[in-house]
Amino acid sequence: MLFPEIMPSVFIKTYGCQMNERDSEAVAAQLVAKGYSLAKSEALADVVLLNTCSVRDAAEQKAMNKMKNLAGTARKERPDQILGYLGCMAQSRGKELIDKLPDVDLVLGTQKFHRAAEYLDEIISGKRKKIVDVAAEEKSEATIREHLLNGSAKTSVSAFVSIMQGCNQHCTFCIVPSTRGEERSRTIPDIVAECRELVARGVREITLLGQIVTSFGKRDYPLLDGKSAFVQLLEAVHEIDGLERIRFTSPHPKGYGDDLVEAYARLPKLCESAHIPLQSGSDRLLKLMHRGYTREKFLGIIEKLRRAKPGIGITTDIIVGFPGETEEDFEQTLSLCREAQFDNAYIFKYSPRRDTPAAEMPDQVPQEIREERNHRLLDLVNEIAARKYDSFIGKQVEILVEGPSKKNAARYTGRTRCNRIVLFNGSARHQSQLMDVKIERTGSFTLYGDPAVVNL
Ligand code: SAH
Ligand code: F3S
Repeated sequence: MLFPEIMPSVFIKTYGCQMNERDSEAVAAQLVAKGYSLAKSEALADVVLLNTCSVRDAAEQKAMNKMKNLAGTARKERPDQILGYLGCMAQSRGKELIDKLPDVDLVLGTQKFHRAAEYLDEIISGKRKKIVDVAAEEKSEATIREHLLNGSAKTSVSAFVSIMQGCNQHCTFCIVPSTRGEERSRTIPDIVAECRELVARGVREITLLGQIVTSFGKRDYPLLDGKSAFVQLLEAVHEIDGLERIRFTSPHPKGYGDDLVEAYARLPKLCESAHIPLQSGSDRLLKLMHRGYTREKFLGIIEKLRRAKPGIGITTDIIVGFPGETEEDFEQTLSLCREAQFDNAYIFKYSPRRDTPAAEMPDQVPQEIREERNHRLLDLVNEIAARKYDSFIGKQVEILVEGPSKKNAARYTGRTRCNRIVLFNGSARHQSQLMDVKIERTGSFTLYGDPAVVNL
């Protein structure tokens, strides 16, 4: 570092999924370890990094507009401010991002997060002016393991652990296989060591992360007593004393073999909640999407899970307006949602992505029809979700308390095992506790509870 006495400050803004949140945290931890401070806002920061998402066009546009605004302000007020793109859009667009906006100094791809400090040093010291690195790197999947020790993370009771990178499924609509690359998994001992360390620091809930976690370790760990590598990992993490809850995201429906379904019944720390992306209820579209399952198979998984763990919270992702989607296909999705009774569903309007087969398919669905189906499906999904929320009124549930609510400091927030947010009037003594609350009423995607009184 050129000016060791004035270490720079950094602000990282994250777009997209939990994997991106986790990657940003690891970059922040890496920079803090090198002496950087975390700036409170982008206006105060010496370095501003945007960790980007490419899954839909809107996410890319948002980050590009943000960067344009940052560059405009920097040119006027902070000519030394360093601007960088990280992550998925950096990976898919590379140098083009600097050609478009020459104020950008750094473009760092998805296998290069661990190089952020080194590259920023080179830019700050004037050794290099612009750096673009989107190359593949062996073993980069094992580099995301630093967590923030200071700031709000100190009291955090829940942590994310990245177990694998990339995806080989190549769903025809999805850009992830090209932004995140081939599937690469960490080893079980390496992941368990990271989880143990987190638990030693007070973490009680761990969410295992990857683009397709159910494919974890397929090439490295053979089946053991009929159990997949992923289930072997769940068992190993389950052994950790002091860890109370285990979650994971995102799985693929094809990964829900009997071994995984059975793990829900067998491993008490594995929370009864699952986010299982459906995408469509039409077999014809599932095939065109290259999803690898049928409607019947999907419904069968849900039924088995509900049998293994009654009350399991099941959420999903659905795309409307995939190329060639007819009214009949869409109605198949509506009817599947009625049957499956999801606790919640995230609905996405199809967005053509570069270099994906679906973008070239005939019969792209007009924008107004995508909008209209989006509304119809949302109405149905919200109606089912509201009914499910209401069914909690009067019930007693266990929550893990995460901390004061962001909106109202007198309220504390926690999550049920089935992953619903509960707000209650709490105080610092509730922080990080597992406790029972009685649900009094519901709000939009929130339950309101009272610490339960035990009647002796
Ligand atoms: N398994 C991955 C999926 C990533 S994308 C993960 O969660 O990490 C998240 C969701 O975005 C997908 O499940 C899908 O519903 C939606 N999606 C992906 N590509 C899309 C596209 N081209 N247009 C619209 N939605 C898309
Ligand atoms: Fe994308 Fe399909 Fe993989 S949605 S992340 S290609 S499972």
